[in-house]
Amino acid sequence: MKSKVKLYGFLLFIILLSLNLIQYFWLDGTSHHFRRDRRDQSITPVDTNVSVDACAKIHQGYLGKNNSDIYYVDYYDLETCFKTFKFNATQANKTINTIKGILENFYPFLDQDKEPPQPGFTFQSIDIISKLEELLNTQYSTDFQFITDLTSLLFQPKDGHLFFFSNCYNQIFTFDQGLSLYSIIKPDGKQTIKIFNDVIDSSLIDCEVVTIDSRPAMEVLTEFANDKTFSSKDLGVRFNSLLSSLSLENNNIRVSSLTQQFTKRRILPEKPSISYGLTCNGSSSTIERSWKIISNFYDNFTDSNSYWNSFCAATTTPSLLDPFNDFGDYSKTYDNMISKAQMVFNGTSSRFYMQNQTGIALISTFESTVNDQEQMKQILQGFNKLNEMGAKKIVFDLTDNGGGFISVAEFVNILLFPDTNPSFPSDAKVTDLSKLAIQTATTGQISGSIFETQQYASFSTLQVFNTSQDFIGNNVYTRGNTQVSYTNKFIRIGYREIFRQILGNNPPKYPWTSKDMIILTNGICGSSCAMIAQHLAELQGVATIAVGGFAETPLSFASFAGGQAFNSYVLFGSLIEIGLLDNPLSPQPFDIFVTLAFPILEIYSVKNDQEVLEFTYRKADHRLFYDEKSIRDPSLLWEQASSLLN
Ligand SMILES: *[C@@H]1O[C@H](CO)[C@@H](O)[C@H](O)[C@H]1NC(C)=O
Ligand SMILES: *[C@@H]1O[C@H](CO)[C@@H](O)[C@H](O)[C@H]1NC(C)=O
Ligand SMILES: *[C@@H]1O[C@H](CO)[C@@H](O)[C@H](O)[C@H]1NC(C)=O
Ligand SMILES: *[C@@H]1O[C@H](CO)[C@@H](O)[C@H](O)[C@H]1NC(C)=O
Ligand SMILES: *[C@@H]1O[C@H](CO)[C@@H](O)[C@H](O)[C@H]1NC(C)=O
Ligand SMILES: *[C@@H]1O[C@H](CO)[C@@H](O)[C@H](O)[C@H]1NC(C)=O
Ligand SMILES: *[C@@H]1O[C@H](CO)[C@@H](O)[C@H](O)[C@H]1NC(C)=O
Ligand SMILES: *[C@@H]1O[C@H](CO)[C@@H](O)[C@H](O)[C@H]1NC(C)=O
Ligand SMILES: *[C@@H]1O[C@H](CO)[C@@H](O)[C@H](O)[C@H]1NC(C)=O
Repeated sequence: MKSKVKLYGFLLFIILLSLNLIQYFWLDGTSHHFRRDRRDQSITPVDTNVSVDACAKIHQGYLGKNNSDIYYVDYYDLETCFKTFKFNATQANKTINTIKGILENFYPFLDQDKEPPQPGFTFQSIDIISKLEELLNTQYSTDFQFITDLTSLLFQPKDGHLFFFSNCYNQIFTFDQGLSLYSIIKPDGKQTIKIFNDVIDSSLIDCEVVTIDSRPAMEVLTEFANDKTFSSKDLGVRFNSLLSSLSLENNNIRVSSLTQQFTKRRILPEKPSISYGLTCNGSSSTIERSWKIISNFYDNFTDSNSYWNSFCAATTTPSLLDPFNDFGDYSKTYDNMISKAQMVFNGTSSRFYMQNQTGIALISTFESTVNDQEQMKQILQGFNKLNEMGAKKIVFDLTDNGGGFISVAEFVNILLFPDTNPSFPSDAKVTDLSKLAIQTATTGQISGSIFETQQYASFSTLQVFNTSQDFIGNNVYTRGNTQVSYTNKFIRIGYREIFRQILGNNPPKYPWTSKDMIILTNGICGSSCAMIAQHLAELQGVATIAVGGFAETPLSFASFAGGQAFNSYVLFGSLIEIGLLDNPLSPQPFDIFVTLAFPILEIYSVKNDQEVLEFTYRKADHRLFYDEKSIRDPSLLWEQASSLLN
């Protein structure tokens, strides 16, 4: 896979602790429960009746290309290659059993997912377990169709932490239209779609996209946001995720990898091309764009057998699968498009600007190249700098922030509001297996295990939980007409010590109050980003602005608060670590190369302890919309945000 393990926002099960677990899991040769020798499972489920091996054809095409050319795969060859692998009912049953075992034991939202959405949210309630069982009763002929249905089933709760991705079908090839889109509101109030970038024909930039495949563009995109995306329970936020927008990523202002989901994909599109009806400079035209399909792994297979063995069969060196579009043009940055602000601090995961007397804090809580403490130090320096420069107001730009370290989120909360409890109350599901895991890790004092209780303190008393029974408690709630048990509500204690180390004895005292601050996002502010935005908004009364979405429809300022991201690899590593993988209660590792990402904790509102934040609709106080300039120059939005503070 990727030589560097890229840890993108949504995969962020990312507290250092978990990183340690992964290392343990990957490097410890003794975790033989999970080790499988590839030779043991060389049965490749290839349909021998297929006359031409389409996977081999792709490899041959690649070998035949001229050296300097990029090799683009033919859509139908790839579709045929994927469909070469026959459905295996035994294997499908195992895959479903693993997913069920993980979700039933550890996914806190399994029952609440059955409840209808709060007004403002758009998703269909779902009983995941019974839908999974229904899949097993479906007659599939190809593995591809089965896996595709499974992926889309798990998108249905529209939780950015919850997704199922296949290495075989979602990581080896990428699909690119060569153009990307944005949306504006025209002077007559009508919303329209425009072309943001086009690497094939730059004269089309800023043309209006009136139709897509002969239907109104807005209608097609709304439908796609409904059916094919999962990053928020708010449809307007999902709509934003289809289009382009800028954020701080990898040290630069660039088009966020969480966006452009309509025009850059990792799931085989339904057909080989898309047509766009355009209006450019007053005249109409139609263009047809084929998907550009490429791979970094042409050398790693020669035919369908080797394709299956390299990419689809279970592996001892799993990598984290990336569900987003981050295969685009890394080199294109927008740093010098910032026309109306002066950069005063350039951190790796945060940037600070001055715009007249307003300080701008651009925070990307996730950064794979620096650890959480380094991020905290940089954020501290950035705010100190704004203070030195005499900033009277603060605009937080948290656009396209898919989350990261929870510790960094809490640090931001406590840095600006030192008298606050920076955490949200968390809890975890209590089941026979999770209880056993908590008891085993706690008794065995497995520090570093997510299940060990002495790293947690009660949210209300701040007393450390010394015994697993203290931690587990006796809390039964009704969710989706089902009685479900959860642990006592807790916070993590380790972070407090880190904050003390970084802030020292004289924590800074800034002059800003909540009235001087405003949060700007496009709703794609998830996970630990949501923990900053929700905390500042709920507990401090900081105003919020959401940009984009649908005209005349309110928009959330944050999404998928979840609790903490986790995934199947890390979970199996944790179960191995405490010796429970062989327990009959434990789900078993996948037989195929897939990841199930899921939240393992949930968080609640502080003010209303009945409200699970994942399911709580909170619209922004103010709305802004992009225009042809501000879509490429966030400082124009900062200016508008700042003026709302007067
Ligand atoms: C692909 O092949 C290259 C070169 O042999 C190797 O380094 C890399 O690990 C392979 N990748 C995968 C996903 O098999
Ligand atoms: C191949 O096709 C024949 C005739 O269509 C069918 O009887 C046979 O079961 C197929 N074989 C496999 C392995 O699918
Ligand atoms: C490779 O380049 C040569 C010379 O430019 C051209 O004639 C030939 O068609 C090219 N082959 C392929 C497979 O593109
Ligand atoms: C189906 O999958 C099972 C479990 O992975 C495997 O043991 C079996 O050999 C497979 N069957 C075929 C026909 O490939
Ligand atoms: C599927 O797996 C379950 C649990 O292991 C087992 O009881 C059942 O018999 C399996 N069904 C099929 C069709 O293999
Ligand atoms: C539209 O007009 C702009 C500015 O004059 C020009 O750069 C662009 O190429 C034109 N696009 C088309 C498709 O005519
Ligand atoms: C700064 O303030 C001046 C005067 O108040 C105003 O004209 C100018 O547009 C402002 N500049 C920015 C970058 O906001
Ligand atoms: C900020 O720092 C990064 C890494 O040091 C660098 O790549 C980037 O160009 C800098 N950006 C600006 C605007 O100075
Ligand atoms: C756990 O032990 C610590 C240290 O002895 C103590 O301060 C704390 O109150 C205990 N927690 C509870 C919930 O009793």
